[in-house]
Amino acid sequence: MLIKIKRPSDCRESEVTDKRLYLERRRFLRLAWGTVLATAAGVVGPELGSPRPALAGEKLKGVRKGPFSTDEELTPYKAVTTYNNFYEFATDKRSPAELAKNFQTKPWTVAIEGEVKKPAVYALEDLLKPHPLEERIYRLRCVEAWSMVIPWVGFPLGDLIKRLEPTSKAKYVEFVTLYDPEQMPGQRYPVLKWPYVEGLRMDEAMHPLTILAVGLYGEVLPNQNGAPLRLVVPWKYGFKSIKSIVKIRFVEQQPVTTWHRAAPHEYGFYANVNPEVDHPRWSQARERRIGEFFKRKTLMFNGYAEEVAHLYAGMDLRKYY
Ligand code: MTE
Repeated sequence: MLIKIKRPSDCRESEVTDKRLYLERRRFLRLAWGTVLATAAGVVGPELGSPRPALAGEKLKGVRKGPFSTDEELTPYKAVTTYNNFYEFATDKRSPAELAKNFQTKPWTVAIEGEVKKPAVYALEDLLKPHPLEERIYRLRCVEAWSMVIPWVGFPLGDLIKRLEPTSKAKYVEFVTLYDPEQMPGQRYPVLKWPYVEGLRMDEAMHPLTILAVGLYGEVLPNQNGAPLRLVVPWKYGFKSIKSIVKIRFVEQQPVTTWHRAAPHEYGFYANVNPEVDHPRWSQARERRIGEFFKRKTLMFNGYAEEVAHLYAGMDLRKYY
């Protein structure tokens, strides 16, 4: 993004060979089948709400299939978990997996603040408890012009918002990442203004496609992918999907988001995947799916136009980029 980053073409094809893709698919089917059996048998194992700490990679129980999943080829687990943007750990894509290895995600609290009837600092377990976990296979499309297909595990953000009862003044939702330079070495440098902040308009936050994720590939979210709680907004560029969330604030004014603050001409508040509006330094018309050689056409709203285009009816998407 602002920092010189490796481009998608730098992702070596050797990391995502056909064999690995095949093994990943097998593994995924095994996981899905295991989940079905465990659920049918009423097996209760370690899960997010259990007293035993949930560890990255631990299997999540009781995950049901959610709506809106794409049937496109999954990006292999290895690529999803070793090609990460997580500036709190490092500005390159390879280091977060290693540097986030010992990141402490338990205990974890989320502060709910602002224009809401139930503000409080919630233990993550309490915040999650009423929400059944779903698997949703969504594309993630980065503004850097690469994309992946990821089986996320999470639940609709809108369900949580309804429970928290925002007031009529709440027009936007702001999300804040943990600030802890002791644990997050990237925060020791002013590459961005910390903590990382993102935001959505209330109708975007309430849209059924928008989820809070706690896992991927049927397992607890790896730290480098934003454990223990991250946002996934599939029709927007990846940078809207803020990681390791510690605060959700309901506000009247449009929040100033991290990337917009860093480079306002390059990153707007809306950040909708839009092949017609180029990033000032490169085209958004095509993208490289990680694991594929040839580029493909970028789809409007990342392929979710039917579901979300109405949210932006009448808006000039060149102005509101
Ligand atoms: N959230 C925080 N807190 N810090 C970050 O650096 N990077 C964003 C987004 N969320 C980022 C973040 C960007 S640019 C992308 S593309 C996605 O996370 C990448 O998510 P992934 O590593 O799970 O692929």
